[in-house]
Amino acid sequence: MATVNDNYLKLKAGYLFPEIARRVNAFIEANPDAKVIRLGIGDVTEPLPQACRDAMIKAVEDMGDRSSFKGYGPEQGYAWLREKIAAHDFQARGCDIDASEIFISDGSKCDCGNILDIFGDDNIIAVTDPVYPVYVDTNVMVGHTGDINEKGEYEGLVYLPVTAENNFTAEIPSQKVDLIYLCFPNNPTGATATKEHLQAWVDYARANGSIIFFDAAYEAFITDPSLPHSIYEIEGAKECAIEFRSFSKNAGFTGTRCALTVVPKNLIGKAKDGSNVELWKLWNRRQSTKFNGVSYIVQRGAEAVYSEEGQAQTRALIDFYMENAKIIREQLTVAGLAVYGGENAPYVWVKTPAGLTSWDFFDKLLQACNVVGTPGSGFGAAGEGYFRISAFNSRDNVNEAMRRIVEKFK
Ligand code: MLT
Repeated sequence: MATVNDNYLKLKAGYLFPEIARRVNAFIEANPDAKVIRLGIGDVTEPLPQACRDAMIKAVEDMGDRSSFKGYGPEQGYAWLREKIAAHDFQARGCDIDASEIFISDGSKCDCGNILDIFGDDNIIAVTDPVYPVYVDTNVMVGHTGDINEKGEYEGLVYLPVTAENNFTAEIPSQKVDLIYLCFPNNPTGATATKEHLQAWVDYARANGSIIFFDAAYEAFITDPSLPHSIYEIEGAKECAIEFRSFSKNAGFTGTRCALTVVPKNLIGKAKDGSNVELWKLWNRRQSTKFNGVSYIVQRGAEAVYSEEGQAQTRALIDFYMENAKIIREQLTVAGLAVYGGENAPYVWVKTPAGLTSWDFFDKLLQACNVVGTPGSGFGAAGEGYFRISAFNSRDNVNEAMRRIVEKFK
């Protein structure tokens, strides 16, 4: 009989969001009239920007004409999109990133997992706790961990706790780690990193030959002008960091699918024989072999984000969600809850009321207010006692959810 990848058997039963969906569906089945408002998963709700839709409609027409029809595109993405990204997202912020270092993909979640293909199995890997579960689970799947312990931590991973006590920024580890996942603005805590904090990480990575996986999926939500949007704004980061970005949250592409990963050309890893290997070459080889690129139509839609109208429309979308975040912060405070994040990120991180675990609070909110959030403990042991509320929803739903919470908790 064919054998299976036993590493999958080490995984916690369900990925967090399907588990939440399962509980919510059970509740709805038992309470069919309940008007449930979902502020759990960070999925956008507002329509795609007009500029993106127009560009995609035009691209569909291109596909209907032999002279402009496109078959397979470049696995790395079309140059016209990569050049706009390089100029607008990086060079305009003083980052020395070339279009050839940008790889277009169908999602940062996929890339965060796929990137492990080009790294060895003997690296020491650090994640923050709480953490976006994809970083952990993908390492479990490829066999980089032992079993899960009673605390919910996998043997072999280095967990860096982030809590209110350290202002939700992980301390630089005293031990040597090879791969480090950082996400700023942070999912789930909504915390941000200053240039000084990222500089400390870059200095650590350069001193130890480590690689930072920097997830910047939420960079567009930064409102404080002093905060960096890209790790490449930090001196030396091109020698030690891979950055992941996405059109999902800034332009509403969660269902449309387009993202990008930056692998600088001078980034080096070590082969078993001790020689230096350019990670760009390996990632290029990996993508060329396992990926056929994002559809032409979707890439044209993403390109439109960089047009004048696209910029104004995506700005309006971001402002809309950030106003939701402000309402959530204010109203939860009125309800007597301690809130963090939500000022430069679409997530508000809430301290659960005394005596309630994260899942207790989840059940209470669902039953008493018919509001869905995400239990902090689902993001890691140090998330216990916290709860994440997402600002991705309509204004009416956010207002109504907050009205219910204030009524029950004030
Ligand atoms: C979340 O809710 O954390 C998001 O769905 C993350 C993601 O974009 O995969």
